[in-house]
Amino acid sequence: MYRPVASLAASILCFTGFVAAHASMISPCVRYTPFCDHCPPVPAGQSLDYNINAPIGSPDSSQPLCKNTTPYDTPVATWTAGQPVTVHFRPHAAVHSGGHCEFSVSYDNGKTFAVIHQELRYCFVGSKPTGQVNDASVLSYTFTLPSNLPSSDRVVFSWSWVNASGNRELYHNCADIAIKGGSSNAYTAKQMTIANYPGFPTIPEFNGNYETGLELYNNAPNVTVGPGISGAYAVSASAAAANPNPPAGYHGVPVVASPPAGAPSARPAPAAVPVAAPAPIAPAAMPTTPPVPSVPSVLHPVALVDGGHQTASSVAPVATPLYSTAPVAVPLYTSVPPTPIKRCQLV
Ligand SMILES: *[C@@H]1O[C@H](CO)[C@@H](O)[C@H](O)[C@H]1NC(C)=O
Ligand SMILES: *[C@@H]1O[C@H](CO)[C@@H](O)[C@H](O)[C@H]1NC(C)=O
Repeated sequence: MYRPVASLAASILCFTGFVAAHASMISPCVRYTPFCDHCPPVPAGQSLDYNINAPIGSPDSSQPLCKNTTPYDTPVATWTAGQPVTVHFRPHAAVHSGGHCEFSVSYDNGKTFAVIHQELRYCFVGSKPTGQVNDASVLSYTFTLPSNLPSSDRVVFSWSWVNASGNRELYHNCADIAIKGGSSNAYTAKQMTIANYPGFPTIPEFNGNYETGLELYNNAPNVTVGPGISGAYAVSASAAAANPNPPAGYHGVPVVASPPAGAPSARPAPAAVPVAAPAPIAPAAMPTTPPVPSVPSVLHPVALVDGGHQTASSVAPVATPLYSTAPVAVPLYTSVPPTPIKRCQLV
């Protein structure tokens, strides 16, 4: 049963303490996120995005890389090249056993991204998990910005994520920031890896093998970004042929880059990546039947929050008399009183 958007939004805001939505960045403020107080007003004609924690892509569907393509009118943070920054993620989010995260910058409003930091394999979970893990043990990352990041007040900083378990999806949040103190007009680094997105490789479920997909990250071509640099990475003919449908404006060499001279002649064969049947996703956490006697829709809001997952604690059965003729007032959720989230809550 689907509910109107407005009440979905209310579910996210009110029940986030026990609804496991997917991970999203809360600092710096992501474009149009409702989950942060320290955000500028959304630009004219735009509105808050209550699905900011939804994936932007899967192998057969996509949204623009930054999802919302109009930047905020003002930067949400000013960072200094060469200095450390800390990025925070929303608590109580489903982290699907970790996976590969990258932090990148774009100087052409979200078309070309160059990596500034990677958290490969164990993003959010810190170390190799045994089995499925949905609770984050790491909710912030601190790293030092390259000192040669060009200064600009129109930089898009982004977090991208390919999750280890579950549906194959790409997560990507963009924040409009300013960089100052940069020692260079151009920054060259690995191009952000795009996967699980139409026209790009699919990284299969890891199933415990945290090297899965790493060759795409390791072999990512360099890209140069900076103010006024556009189409910085020329698309080779073979790459263009291999990827006829890149996202609009994406200046990348996504699927098959010609190896640079002198490089090993081929990437590891895709066959090296185990393609195993998807592991079942903790069926115990997803009850298929509502508690006795059925009170329609009691459990439904959870399942509708952008595919977020219930956790065992979030779905404690409602104690309802078995044979009651009178209507029984059943609270929507019994386990915890609704804790309104503090917007932009940092741990
Ligand atoms: C990861 O796995 C879950 C579980 O199936 C899936 O629903 C989710 O959308 C996937 N993507 C991410 C990044 O969580
Ligand atoms: C990519 O850029 C980095 C940083 O500038 C540099 O060290 C590296 O040699 C470059 N790699 C290639 C293949 O050009």
